[in-house]
Amino acid sequence: MKVEFVEKNFTEVKSDVLILALTTEDAEPASKKDPTPKFVSLFRDSAGELKRALSGSNFTGDKGQQVTLYPEGRHRVAHLIGLGQRSQVTVEKLRRAAAAGIKAPRAGNVSSVLLSVLGPTVEQISDYDTVHSILEGAILAAYKFDKYLTQNRKKASLSKFTVALKGVKGDIGRKAARDAASVCESVYLTRDLCNAPANDMYPEVLAGIALKIAKKYRLHARIFDEREIRRLKMGGLLAVNSGSKRPPRFITLEYRGKPTSKDWYAIVGKGITFDSGGISLKPAANMGEMKMDMSGAAAVLGTIQNLASLKIPVNVVGIAPSAENLPGGSAYKPGDVLTTMSGITIEVDNTDAEGRIILSDALHYAQRYRPKAIIDLATLTGACVVALGQHATGMFGTGEDVMAQLKEAGEKTFERVWQMPIYEEYEKQIKSDIADVKNVGGRWAGAITAALFLKRFVGDYPWVHLDIAGTAMLEEETDYAPKGGSGVGVRLLTQFFKQISS
Ligand code: BES
Ligand code: MN
Ligand code: ZN
Repeated sequence: MKVEFVEKNFTEVKSDVLILALTTEDAEPASKKDPTPKFVSLFRDSAGELKRALSGSNFTGDKGQQVTLYPEGRHRVAHLIGLGQRSQVTVEKLRRAAAAGIKAPRAGNVSSVLLSVLGPTVEQISDYDTVHSILEGAILAAYKFDKYLTQNRKKASLSKFTVALKGVKGDIGRKAARDAASVCESVYLTRDLCNAPANDMYPEVLAGIALKIAKKYRLHARIFDEREIRRLKMGGLLAVNSGSKRPPRFITLEYRGKPTSKDWYAIVGKGITFDSGGISLKPAANMGEMKMDMSGAAAVLGTIQNLASLKIPVNVVGIAPSAENLPGGSAYKPGDVLTTMSGITIEVDNTDAEGRIILSDALHYAQRYRPKAIIDLATLTGACVVALGQHATGMFGTGEDVMAQLKEAGEKTFERVWQMPIYEEYEKQIKSDIADVKNVGGRWAGAITAALFLKRFVGDYPWVHLDIAGTAMLEEETDYAPKGGSGVGVRLLTQFFKQISS
């Protein structure tokens, strides 16, 4: 993938496809006598054709408006996308405009696009953010998971994105383009891992990906195999995996971006490569989606890769316990009592509440880093999807400052989080008669009782739990994410670490 910024007017750059976002002000009539929209004159050579093509289209630059034109000259196809009023433009509107252009019908198979925006530097958005968000929207919208198509696969796919903006300093524009390319590459990685079928994506494979990232960016990865997991007494991870013929893995990937500091942050991701429910078997309908139950782990790997690629000055360890939750002769059962690495015992009431069980060992292990904060990401509960759907991630925790920063990072990246309470009154729902804690809390407030379960394993460290069950595995496409793995978490956590390291 090639991503570049050029400090030029879009009219000075050759391309097959132009995506041009513009505001209602740009589309105002040129004068009292001439109703031609102002921006038309910018096209110079092809202004005549454009004027004819536009006549009758009623394009006023309103938000969501879109028109496709075929002016001769440098641009074979021009997609004009309305941004609405200039003073109301946001980075999210820029992402969506770029994405709309990418998804607009194109003439044939093109491999490169030119993107631009008029009135490029609206006051409320920095030049860096303008270039970054346009590219994010475009590249993320261009994602396809077509690895498994052997027939009818499009030969050409978009592989070159150019932003042309006069008036934005070259070094700022180029930096924004590099950063956007990097973050999108990591989101692509996370999406690919999630979308991969479970026959090709199991704990050993996930561990192999961590090793690959470590090698490429010279990071320190540690992969614990089944013997080492046993030696660490991770009774939760072992039990959940016990129905599978494949061995579990416990993955750690350290990024040391600030060698002068001993401060660490831990990000922990649920890595269930397939969740059948185990002995408490799930219904057949849509069970295949549970290949994405490792979305938390995938987001952790994508985030670490991106932090390393961007060289953000912060120390972060990524931790991903990984297992397959299957029924079988050796599978763990309802009624079992497990002893976790922390020594805390769990009564298993339902083998389908497996995420919190593997996380209990991982959250305990994270304390070895004496972290400034522990943030976990998990496709943990259907209850969270019932509460928030696919447009907000559920946020729970004890780290108030961290949650405030995540909220801000969520607004900026539009990977929004919404805090839910973890009042102690809910605790009694996960009380067990025979063990320290029970793995399900009954019908009500399922996302909250799951969070309270996790809280038992984080000691006194500031901790935030992000339930991404609704946001990581999309049932419906969004503006710049197709159905399936969204890659949520990568942009959110990258922005979070950018914020706290600046
Ligand atoms: N991985 C699921 C949660 C999930 C459900 C993610 C739907 C995405 C979409 C999790 O392991 C699970 O099965 N949770 C159970 C917990 C219950 C048994 C207490 C659930 O939410 O039904
Ligand atoms: Mn489950
Ligand atoms: Zn699960």
